[in-house]
Amino acid sequence: MIQNTMKIYQAPLQGFTDFTFRKVLSEVFGGIDKYFIPYLSYGKGKEIKKSQLREVFPENNLDLPAVPQVLFSDRQELFDLVSLLAESNYTEINLNLGCPYPMATNKGRGAAWLEKPEALNEILQELFNQKFPVKFSVKMRAGLINDADFRATLNILNHFPLEEVIFHPRTASQMYTGKANPVLFAEALSLVEHPLVYNGDLFSEADLQAIKIVVPQQDSFMIGRGLLINPELPLQLKGEIFEAKELRKKKKEFHDQLLEAYSARLEGSGHILMKMNQFWSYFSESFENQHKVMKLIKKSGSLLKYNAAVVEIFRNY
Ligand SMILES: Cc1cc2nc3c(=O)[nH]c(=O)nc-3n(C[C@H](O)[C@H](O)[C@H](O)COP(=O)(O)O)c2cc1C
Repeated sequence: MIQNTMKIYQAPLQGFTDFTFRKVLSEVFGGIDKYFIPYLSYGKGKEIKKSQLREVFPENNLDLPAVPQVLFSDRQELFDLVSLLAESNYTEINLNLGCPYPMATNKGRGAAWLEKPEALNEILQELFNQKFPVKFSVKMRAGLINDADFRATLNILNHFPLEEVIFHPRTASQMYTGKANPVLFAEALSLVEHPLVYNGDLFSEADLQAIKIVVPQQDSFMIGRGLLINPELPLQLKGEIFEAKELRKKKKEFHDQLLEAYSARLEGSGHILMKMNQFWSYFSESFENQHKVMKLIKKSGSLLKYNAAVVEIFRNY
């Protein structure tokens, strides 16, 4: 039975959850309440990469509750990116205060904001003064290096009419080491005046239960890598579980539709194979013999051999 009160969001994963992935995921599995689009940002010379722009073209997100995200270092970047998205008729824009990569944080972007609450206060004040016709939400980590940064950040965020805050209770310097810490989340919950969404290390129903021991009332979650491994996870967490045979059929359908869509979109078998290899780097973890599955995919080398490998994987592993 579906527990309708629970909200599950698809995390943005640059390079993985692109518009093709989002569309196929929604058609084959679904169970997702919002699809967050990987960040839009300025590259070198104030240029936005074509691949990032393609992600936010409205025609690539039709009929999906899609939320674009901006990664910014200053007022100019923020306003330019927000204007572009507001003109594309998005109703919500997510502000990235969590990107942990030094390439971003060294430029004052992403998680770097967690160390400068006064500057954050100023830029948000300017942003809200502009009265852009959109709602804003925030996605953040617990801190840049110090896992106490979030207290001052939440104190600032409380002054603004945000839609919600997505909180990944890890520091940026941890990257993906250690575990997301539900105790930090519980503290954030006691400080924040906005709806707070849990993000981090949610791979199974057991993980959900472990989080719920610490924050029993929590009913909104964002899932990233767990969804790449197991696209059925949102439905499972909502209480809808396929029997093994049906699930295998669904997974095959998911794969086949992805392959078809990438084949129509990308040029040359090399690009298609590279994209599918990347997809399998997580998806293979949902098979019993992940190592063997990945080996078969990696050594395929041509689309013909790739297709044969996929048949073998779904038959034997
Ligand atoms: C390859 C990769 C790309 C990511 N890209 C983004 C991004 O564009 N924007 C963002 O806010 N977070 C990004 N993240 C972080 C995820 O959205 C998520 O917060 C993180 O993976 C923790 O959730 P999980 O444990 O469910 O995967 C990325 C993570 C990975 C692994």
